Amino acid sequence: MAKHAAVMFSYAFSIIVLALSLLCKAIDEDRNVHVVYLGSLPDDELYSPLSHHLSILQRVVGRSSVANLLLRSYKRSFNGFAANLTDHEREELANMKEVVSVFPSTTFQLQTTRSWEFMGFNEKIRRNPTIESDVIIGILDSGIWPESESFKDESFGPAPKKWTGDCKGGQNFTCNNKLVGARFYSSSESARDGMGHGTHTASTAAGNVVKDVSFYGLAQGTARGGVPSARVAAYSICSAEGCQSSDILAAFDDAIADGVDIITVSLGSSSAIPIAHDPIAIGSYHAIQKGILTSHAAGNSGPTAGTVSSVAPWILTVAASSIDRGIIDKVVLGNGKTLVGNSVNSFTSNGTSFPIVEGKDVRNRICTEVEAGHCEILCIDSDAVKGKIVLCDQLSGDVEARRAAAMGTILKNNRPEFAGVSAVLPLPALALRDEEYNVVMSYMNSTKDPRANILSSEIIKDDAAPVVASFSSRGPNVFLPEIIKPDISAPGVDILAAYSPLAPITNSQEDKRRVKYTLLSGTSMACPHAAGAAAYVKELHPDWSPAAIKSSLMTTTWPMNDTGNSPGEYAHGSGHINPLKAIDPGLVYEASKEDYIKFLCMVFDEAGVRLISGQNRTCSTGSEKESPRDHNYPSLAGVVTPMKPFSISFHRRVKNVGLSNSTYKANILPNSGVDIRVVPELLSFKSLNEEKTFDVTIAGKPLQDGSHVSSSLVWSDGTHSVRSPILISTTRT
Ligand SMILES: *[C@@H]1O[C@H](CO)[C@@H](O)[C@H](O)[C@H]1NC(C)=O
Ligand SMILES: *[C@@H]1O[C@H](CO)[C@@H](O)[C@H](O)[C@H]1NC(C)=O
Ligand SMILES: *[C@@H]1O[C@H](CO)[C@@H](O)[C@H](O)[C@H]1NC(C)=O
Ligand SMILES: *[C@@H]1O[C@H](CO)[C@@H](O)[C@H](O)[C@H]1NC(C)=O
Ligand SMILES: *[C@@H]1O[C@H](CO)[C@@H](O)[C@H](O)[C@H]1NC(C)=O
Ligand SMILES: *[C@@H]1O[C@H](CO)[C@@H](O)[C@H](O)[C@H]1NC(C)=O
Ligand SMILES: *[C@@H]1O[C@H](CO)[C@@H](O)[C@H](O)[C@H]1NC(C)=O
Repeated sequence: MAKHAAVMFSYAFSIIVLALSLLCKAIDEDRNVHVVYLGSLPDDELYSPLSHHLSILQRVVGRSSVANLLLRSYKRSFNGFAANLTDHEREELANMKEVVSVFPSTTFQLQTTRSWEFMGFNEKIRRNPTIESDVIIGILDSGIWPESESFKDESFGPAPKKWTGDCKGGQNFTCNNKLVGARFYSSSESARDGMGHGTHTASTAAGNVVKDVSFYGLAQGTARGGVPSARVAAYSICSAEGCQSSDILAAFDDAIADGVDIITVSLGSSSAIPIAHDPIAIGSYHAIQKGILTSHAAGNSGPTAGTVSSVAPWILTVAASSIDRGIIDKVVLGNGKTLVGNSVNSFTSNGTSFPIVEGKDVRNRICTEVEAGHCEILCIDSDAVKGKIVLCDQLSGDVEARRAAAMGTILKNNRPEFAGVSAVLPLPALALRDEEYNVVMSYMNSTKDPRANILSSEIIKDDAAPVVASFSSRGPNVFLPEIIKPDISAPGVDILAAYSPLAPITNSQEDKRRVKYTLLSGTSMACPHAAGAAAYVKELHPDWSPAAIKSSLMTTTWPMNDTGNSPGEYAHGSGHINPLKAIDPGLVYEASKEDYIKFLCMVFDEAGVRLISGQNRTCSTGSEKESPRDHNYPSLAGVVTPMKPFSISFHRRVKNVGLSNSTYKANILPNSGVDIRVVPELLSFKSLNEEKTFDVTIAGKPLQDGSHVSSSLVWSDGTHSVRSPILISTTRT
């Protein structure tokens, strides 16, 4: 397990891995940090959350001195606390009627120049810098590097009036009119970013326009966020050890109350967790109730099905895909053959070739041949690789090759999820697919003096883009299969953005290079692109609800090429984000507070719904009970019993935000497998903001177990195309 983790971490230093370690201890006297979630804050001026939290704790602990057990109180945007509890106390709390849920605080892990241009979102697009500068993006991440060019505040006026946050970044941390706020939580000592991740995501969402940046000359261009005039507030919740649930909730509690407009969260667990135990689902629910949309990384656990860890309908869940700027690297063998692989290799070659050796043939005696073949830590003999290129049959071999001071390394990409991803490596190196790696091996066999020359990386035009990255987590949504997740895809492969000059750029301790801009890949990088796009829609439509913004992003996507992964919707949801189109969607699928409460009724019991919503509500029961299919979502997914003919229906409501006088006609992408009917087929609007409802009925012949049928519904008025994917899958057996 430890080896497996090391493997993930070294080559894919930039592919931020999401792992969730559940702390489960059987011994009763052991205390562990838990979150006790109490729902909405009561609408009562006399209510004191802190004394309520203390009194609840006192009741279960059975003594009055509990201050050292209460670790955090959530009291600004929702109600709850984090406390150090025994199993027994946890059970007692879970049974209290004022408690929605109690869950262990677990560890979550953190999961550009060209990317915006690629989406046709160039520097010349229509903007309103004055309004844009009123938009504040909250970044829940590893902190920020406040001195980065991407966050300088030249030409920024004071923070918008609605901002009530603070600059509490720790010692020697100064905010400015661009970086308007910062806070840090228990897992770090300052909001200063020591990892680089938070600086990268923040600059992708809202970094300034900074000319002439590159990674040692590679990927040169102008770096900018989606909304360069917007403000940034950094909430530092992650350290090298990960991000704690209790801190994630604390950051949501603050960000919502501080007055951010959009929240971006590039961290998560490696698999879905129930909404009642998921700090991101809980935090973002309270955010959307206050008009704040949360963009969340889908996760990096692909391409396995059912790995998407972001499931709630009020979150915008983002997959990662490639852009047309590819980065490749080449190696020229002694026989003149050139092989193409992946790496971000800025080391220059002067044309000299070096002898190649296999890891197993230069092993330290403490290791087996297999271990040395992988180039595991301390397995390569430095004297034997001096001046040579070492072949490692695992992607993670670069760290040991660098430690042993080899001249370079050729890595076998044994991890298909990283196919096509170029990572920054600590020495002249590249990763080859099996096929190319075998060419090197047979060349080794064919000569007594095998040699190779690893060239510097090159930029290529990737015409296949956008393609969802293999590492990007996939649907189906294991808890709520009627809600397609991820929702959309955005650039997340080899993205250049600002970095922390304190942070290592590879996993090698010997690699002392420090940079202000670097290339990273992951759904972590895709998520702030979606947040930037959402902020852009908000800039042009300041009065739109988060659901309307989300709908506009989802219904205006570029349809994506379904590469092998069936169905494609599980990889990319509605398709690739297209911010310019999203500002004029024509129709939007709204979701009111009421709609989300109805949705909560499907997930929680009535008492829980009352606490979460803060409203005295009854959930409908029996035949009146809503189906999650009827949640007014901008995509349509149904689950049917395998091997039986089916007929299911969806109820939807759209609001006209296009032209006041317009008629939309329903078009269905032809699909021989199913019969899809839309009633009515025409929607005529007389005014803006007018709402119309319709029903979609889908009938079909029996489906094989595990099979899917997909199609699309497109409402069009001749100007706008409002597209929703339709996906019918069978129940899991
Ligand atoms: C929780 O209590 C345990 C003792 O059971 C202690 O070891 C641990 O440090 C406490 N954790 C915190 C965060 O206070
Ligand atoms: C504050 O931080 C900056 C940036 O890292 C550094 O250059 C400076 O020396 C620090 N000042 C103090 C007093 O630590
Ligand atoms: C190229 O670099 C290698 C290693 O740094 C050095 O040994 C060699 O002399 C150089 N060759 C030329 C032509 O500069
Ligand atoms: C190289 O030679 C070894 C033994 O001579 C053989 O087992 C191996 O399959 C050969 N590899 C390739 C790629 O030709
Ligand atoms: C989808 O991708 C495949 C492989 O890259 C390509 O052959 C095919 O033409 C693409 N189809 C579309 C519609 O772009
Ligand atoms: C909630 O509403 C019901 C009727 O709608 C009422 O009987 C009940 O007393 C209310 N409960 C609270 C706590 O307000
Ligand atoms: C709305 O459109 C209809 C049909 O195109 C047209 O007859 C009518 O005059 C239009 N009304 C307004 C107010 O533009």
